[in-house]
Amino acid sequence: MQYIYEEKGNPNGPTLLLLHGTGGTENDLLPLANIIDPNANVLSVRGNVLENGMPRFFRRLEEGVFDEEDLIKRTQELHEFLNEASQRNGFDRKQITAIGYSNGANIAGSLLFHYENSLQKAILHHPMIPRRGIKLPNLTGTDVFIAAGENDPICSPEEAEELTQLLKNAGAHVDIHWESNGHQLSMREIKAASVWYAASKA
Ligand code: MLT
Repeated sequence: MQYIYEEKGNPNGPTLLLLHGTGGTENDLLPLANIIDPNANVLSVRGNVLENGMPRFFRRLEEGVFDEEDLIKRTQELHEFLNEASQRNGFDRKQITAIGYSNGANIAGSLLFHYENSLQKAILHHPMIPRRGIKLPNLTGTDVFIAAGENDPICSPEEAEELTQLLKNAGAHVDIHWESNGHQLSMREIKAASVWYAASKA
């Protein structure tokens, strides 16, 4: 996978995994890492799938309808990439916080839905439910922050609430934050995520 790794802090400390939205690149969310934790290592990855030239982390059949087979395959690919990247770059595999927006939040959510201990924490901006009807792994000890939009036309408030409940039922600790800027990633929600992250470290 194409990625940027910046060792900014202690290799034994936290690493932020940045996952862009549809049409983005590994450069997009770099400013967020500085706001959330300027001392954490950064691993920013570009999605391997192209939709009309736009990078994504997995295929979709149409807006909001995921290609489940590809989602499962790409989730495994990202999970294995994290194992390899931690060895290659020498960061602690157990201390990864994913920060994902939209399609990036959905692949981060899919890591949580499919693998125990793939992520220590996750900050999900405007996520959807990656898959329905599966048993989630035990997520006890995993902290999740969800930023959702009361008027998000892509990730509805009902879906954000349902995702929160599914993650909580699997044992995760989940906080949800509401905005009203549609599907946009707003500075207010980034600041709220940074306050949440600081509190989760304390
Ligand atoms: C997705 O396909 O992951 C969601 O619809 C969000 C998006 O990327 O537009």
